[in-house]
Amino acid sequence: MCGIIGCVGVTNSKQVLLEGLKTLEYRGYDSSGIAIFNKDNVNIVKAVGKLSQLQKKVNNQEMLGSHGIAHTRWATHGKVTEENAHPHIVGSISIVHNGIIENYRKLKTELLKDGVVFKSETDTEVIAHLLNNYYEKEKSLLQAVKKVKSVLQGSFALLVSSVKEPQTLVALKSGPPLLFARSNESYFFSSDSLAFQNYATEFFPLEDGDIIEVKKDKFSLLRDKNKNENKSKNENKNENENEIIDQKNLIWIKVSKDQYSLSKQSYKHFMLKEIFEQPQVSVQAISPYIDQVKMELLLPCKDLQQKIKKTKKIFIIACGTSFYAAMEAKYYIEKAAGVSVEVDTASEFRYRHTPIDQDDLVLLISQSGETADTLSVLRSLKEKEISVISLCNTKSSSIDRLSDFSYYMNAGVEVAVASTKAFVNSLIILNIFSEQIAKIKNKLTTTDEKDFVASMLSLPRLLGEVLDFSIAIKDKVEFLSKHKGFLFMGRGFSFPISMEGALKLKELVYLHAEAYSFGEMKHGPLALIDKNMLVIALVPKDEFYEKSLSNLEEVRSRGASIFGIGSYQDKELARLSTEHFFLPKITESFCWSLNPILASLPMQLLAYYFSDYLGHDVDQPRNLAKSVTVE
Ligand code: F6R
Repeated sequence: MCGIIGCVGVTNSKQVLLEGLKTLEYRGYDSSGIAIFNKDNVNIVKAVGKLSQLQKKVNNQEMLGSHGIAHTRWATHGKVTEENAHPHIVGSISIVHNGIIENYRKLKTELLKDGVVFKSETDTEVIAHLLNNYYEKEKSLLQAVKKVKSVLQGSFALLVSSVKEPQTLVALKSGPPLLFARSNESYFFSSDSLAFQNYATEFFPLEDGDIIEVKKDKFSLLRDKNKNENKSKNENKNENENEIIDQKNLIWIKVSKDQYSLSKQSYKHFMLKEIFEQPQVSVQAISPYIDQVKMELLLPCKDLQQKIKKTKKIFIIACGTSFYAAMEAKYYIEKAAGVSVEVDTASEFRYRHTPIDQDDLVLLISQSGETADTLSVLRSLKEKEISVISLCNTKSSSIDRLSDFSYYMNAGVEVAVASTKAFVNSLIILNIFSEQIAKIKNKLTTTDEKDFVASMLSLPRLLGEVLDFSIAIKDKVEFLSKHKGFLFMGRGFSFPISMEGALKLKELVYLHAEAYSFGEMKHGPLALIDKNMLVIALVPKDEFYEKSLSNLEEVRSRGASIFGIGSYQDKELARLSTEHFFLPKITESFCWSLNPILASLPMQLLAYYFSDYLGHDVDQPRNLAKSVTVE
């Protein structure tokens, strides 16, 4: 889950790499490092802690050179120390690595037997030693990388240079994302296109098994012969099986500058900015699927329509926040279209022996499009020739590219580690998807379709109205801070949002939070209730309202404090709650589908303000990384 970047042929590689690292910091932020090559010299600087620590160190150094590599780390093997930070250097070789080498213990034992002394605890240093050994024999960086590819098992993206081959950078990808970009005679590699968006004009994602050698102003791409995306990543072993790809056949993607990206503007944190962008970015989620003139839902392509027509069961698989969006989709699809939905986390689903029929549909949700568990589910489904729909935020990500049908969150880049706008845009698309299924299966009347479209069109305004009252949440932070435990509760459509609320609090505030459906309360969690417990109750006026109010009475009579979140000016909820927050007035008939989307915002604001109040690092919470590209 680290971020890597490299460049060749740029005027100021130090600046390019540091700027790039800043955009990659979301992938890991416990230490970082940079190596700049100048003729037959390499200048390496590493620092423990946030990127600002590295920046401080390199500010005082003249690091001239047009070629370099850099890394931001999320520790997997070995503690957070300078020795373990990348780049790793052995002999003439310098390397940065994202991923995990599964057979590194075996390889390390063999190297130790040969008398090799290790300076770090990382699996990456094993690669550096192997490359150095191969380089000594082969005298060619490209040949050394080809050889190392044949012995490594696991998931890795590598950038390698040698002081003995000036202006040469070799990249190898097998698993984690790696993009190759260019502009005139400058070349760039990175885990994310954001990292080179200010310098490159076009890029393409490397495929598993690809090796690219950049030598001064030229590059060559070696791809596995008979390449088949369905093969497991360790199958293409023989180093002689690559062929040089004719560059005329490469499809380059234009680098687009993301309007939502790299500046916090006047906000204190990226997370707050991203929360406040939601009214604006929700328009981008809605408009591709709606004909505003005819007030009609637009349908997906004919092939997908055919599949939807036939399907009786939908599986939705995802991780973390995307998994909670999947849970919400289950409620939406089953109500709107009457199709049975099974939801699971990718980390469980990939090891289950779930029977799936050729007519079943599978939807994978991933903001990054690179989450290792979700990607592994996708690969195993493709082996079984099951059609896969993806919902991603990152276009051209691995999950987007490998799936058969793509939906997009269109939320713009999310920099804060805690997902906010991508979650809300996912809910919007999943809501639309459920009504598309209903329309395809002739379960949506024309009147309902028009009402649904009107509801969707009202969403940006309603989201804005929730945010207008954000101060009311901020003012409750002191009250929140009096509690040590948090139970998030809701029923039906509100239950997945409660789960997402508990996750946001855990990851940002570092206090224990759990979510329960109100109906489960008597089966155990009621024993937890006392005056130290805060119940955050989601009780909008929907079909579950009366039942939830009765449950809330039970909680109240056992002494817990209650933070009620519910519909506009609900006096009954206000009476039962210690503190409350009301959603805006909704006049649309589809309020059951709008409530969960709107209720997500107070959940985000609550975790945000509470975390900031406690002085935590809101954008980069401890131990986490945004893109989980290892299992
Ligand atoms: C929580 C969060 C994570 C991600 C999870 C899946 O705020 O961001 O729980 O949702 O790691 O990531 P994606 O959606 O990129 O597959």
